[in-house]
Amino acid sequence: MKRYSLFILFILFVEADIHAQNITFYKDIAPIVYTHCTSCHHPGENTPFSLISYADIAKRADFIWQVVNSRYMPPWKADTSYQHFCHERVLTVWEIQLIREWIDAGKPAGENDSMIEKQQLKKFINHTMYDRPPDLTIHMMHPYEIKGDNKERFVFVKIPFETDTPGNVEAIEFTANNLRYIHHVNYAIYPAVEGVDIHEGGELATLDEDGPQAFQQFEPYLKGNTQMIYYGGWIPGTTYTYFPRDIGFVMPRKGVVILTFHFGPSPVDTILTASLHFFFKKTPVQRKIETISIGSGGIGNIMPPLLILPNQIDTFEVTAQTTKDISLLYVWPHMHLLGKSFKAFAVTPAQDTIPLIYIPHWDFSWQDLYRFTHLVYLPKGSTVHVMGIYDNTDQNPRNPFHPPQMIFGDNNELMKTTDEMLTLILLYVDYKPHDEQLCICDK
Ligand code: HEC
Repeated sequence: MKRYSLFILFILFVEADIHAQNITFYKDIAPIVYTHCTSCHHPGENTPFSLISYADIAKRADFIWQVVNSRYMPPWKADTSYQHFCHERVLTVWEIQLIREWIDAGKPAGENDSMIEKQQLKKFINHTMYDRPPDLTIHMMHPYEIKGDNKERFVFVKIPFETDTPGNVEAIEFTANNLRYIHHVNYAIYPAVEGVDIHEGGELATLDEDGPQAFQQFEPYLKGNTQMIYYGGWIPGTTYTYFPRDIGFVMPRKGVVILTFHFGPSPVDTILTASLHFFFKKTPVQRKIETISIGSGGIGNIMPPLLILPNQIDTFEVTAQTTKDISLLYVWPHMHLLGKSFKAFAVTPAQDTIPLIYIPHWDFSWQDLYRFTHLVYLPKGSTVHVMGIYDNTDQNPRNPFHPPQMIFGDNNELMKTTDEMLTLILLYVDYKPHDEQLCICDK
């Protein structure tokens, strides 16, 4: 009997040992990190260090475990029990446990596969988060110097472009040499206007130096029947915007992009250069993407009007109705520093409630364009509800004012970070039967 139990004990030891020894960097840990961390933690990105090689990761293993166990990393703010989105940056409990066990086992590297590391590095050498190099990149013609005077700035930049052929846009991505002081940037793409030279007028205008007329020099491009082709943007936390299947827009052969930068206060002089990457698909674009903005800077009236009294936590709501049957691809919520939580849902004429997004702990640093896993059908006459809760107390660590002050929001697009906004931008196409069944995460 004794011998028998000893034997069992022996087996258990061996089992535990094999289990622990089995976990290796190259086999178990690298896939987790490459899926959930490396897209941000690579050279040239706005992150404190790269997480690619065994050395990068092993030397920070305990720190990594702390940030994943507390769910500080990877950053993902949308509640996954309310609505699902593509590529949710969320580790499973099991993955977190595996990292712990790997550390406890002495961080074994396993069979060295430096090829994987090289492949990962190569992926990011093009300064893109997309899975291949861009087909077209257009750059700001000259760098802009953000003065280190701790002032906010609004800067318009025109980028003229001319290519051999129009492109069917599958994805678009904003990049810059330094993302740190960009509060947000929006960009509008216009085709060239007959008889107007795309190089006409200035390249750059700032609201502070050129006054409210700053934008006027770009007006020749908006003349006549010119239709803006696409309106997109970047805010902290966003990556590229991808259009699946036959959805997208056609990038004209010739035209201008007008970027509107909002720079946060910078304590040091910083040189900024920025680009837009375009990734084209070979198949035609049959369903053109459209954009609508609800709330500040868009349609609907925020109720009560967005005015947040000091030492209060207040709720505001804005609604808007769909005027045709549409299918949603992306939702893009936006608030500023007093934001506490954000929720959006739609109610159809048949009184069905469709959850759109819930962010229980709003975090100004991590905003995103969230892509649904499937197209979301909103019938004509649906009401979209957008609700924001704002914390204007001293308990809010992001509150820019101590003691708290009265904070205003309005419809002026050029508002300061310390003002407030309640906005939901929707990217959608006209509805087609069975859209609800279309998975839009993978190609
Ligand atoms: C969407 C981009 C993104 C992803 C994905 C991401 N990180 Fe980060 N990470 C950042 C940024 C930006 C910072 C620096 C700012 C900060 O600390 O919030 C950071 C900071 C960190 C820090 C330092 C935290 C501190 O307190 O200084 C660690 C450690 C870290 N990340 C580990 C990870 C790990 C491990 C993963 C994957 C499981 C991951 N990150 C995924 C963007 C990302």
